[in-house]
Amino acid sequence: MSRVVVFDEAGGPEVLRVVDQPVPEPAAGQVRLAVEVIGVNRLDAMVRAGHAPRPIRLPQARLGVEAAGRIDAVGADVEEFAVGDPVIVTALPDMDINGTYAEQLVLPAERIIARPAELDATSAAALWVSYSTAYGALIEKAGTRPGDRVLVTAASSGVGLAAMQIANQIGAIPLAVTRSETKVDALLAAGAYAVLIRPRDDLARVTQELTDGSGVEIILDLVMGPGLADLARAARPGGTLVTAGWLDPRPASFPMNPLTINRYMSFEHTLDPTAVRRIAAFLGAGLRTGALSPTIDRAFGFDDVVEAHRYLEQGSPFGKVVLSV
Ligand SMILES: NC(=O)c1ccc[n+]([C@@H]2O[C@H](COP(=O)([O-])OP(=O)(O)OC[C@H]3O[C@@H](n4cnc5c(N)ncnc54)[C@H](OP(=O)(O)O)[C@@H]3O)[C@@H](O)[C@H]2O)c1
Repeated sequence: MSRVVVFDEAGGPEVLRVVDQPVPEPAAGQVRLAVEVIGVNRLDAMVRAGHAPRPIRLPQARLGVEAAGRIDAVGADVEEFAVGDPVIVTALPDMDINGTYAEQLVLPAERIIARPAELDATSAAALWVSYSTAYGALIEKAGTRPGDRVLVTAASSGVGLAAMQIANQIGAIPLAVTRSETKVDALLAAGAYAVLIRPRDDLARVTQELTDGSGVEIILDLVMGPGLADLARAARPGGTLVTAGWLDPRPASFPMNPLTINRYMSFEHTLDPTAVRRIAAFLGAGLRTGALSPTIDRAFGFDDVVEAHRYLEQGSPFGKVVLSV
């Protein structure tokens, strides 16, 4: 049996509870994971609250797309992994049925990669969703190049901090946007060239000043909402805006200035094994040089999942929230 977090109806963090569920033997092409640490994502809170991007199966819906653990059984035809190997989950499209908030997990071997040697289980559980999203949005979608000025909203989020590290890794220049004046020093220490406060600062004017009057080449927006049009004014004519998050649930305003506008969803890449190899190679190189290093805000115990969700939703984390099994 495995202890598993489930919920029977959509609602606040208190709908989450821990139950025992049987764990099957892995079938051909599958592995079983002893989960060590789980990455808690905004998507999990949205699904729990009833705002899933697709219908989910209730009752006893599961949660979670991110985890690090060790292989504890392999099915037939699995040659690239052995019992005891430390690994990372890269994608779980069916989280309500097989979510990562569990002690044990059976999943296809193509949905995991080896854990990079530089990472312990906690950092590994904070890597994939944030960094693959930041990489996909900035590098593959927006085509960010060395020298580009990159404005990142919700810069203190897991994805935001990953985006700033990736920008620095390739020689681009990250400008951070936050709502919290108390985070300025930490964002500068995390690699921001400058920090802009929203709504205090006029984003267009301050970015003009920081970019010799031209505006930024790239905006990575994780917030959307009615501030989107104002944010877009920070871009130079012909610049690129890529949206990859929805932290502000209010309707988005539409930018009027001439921009290339893209939207990025990580499942565009993370269900494609070739893309996963490409992402893993990029992240692996950054981890080896030290350019990339996941930021953990706070680790909760598995049984404190309700408190972890409350913290994510009510707090203002700096980096990732994780659950230790
Ligand atoms: N496209 C994809 O495939 C994909 C994948 C992963 C995540 N995402 C999205 O990326 C976003 C960030 O996710 P995450 O898990 O990294 O971070 P997170 O932990 O949800 O982000 C927390 C930070 O975001 C800022 N924030 C929170 N609510 C906000 C609001 N209403 N308006 C402006 N800023 C707000 C706060 O920073 P300050 O107080 O400093 O402003 C907070 O500390 C989410 O929207 C998530 O859904 C998308």
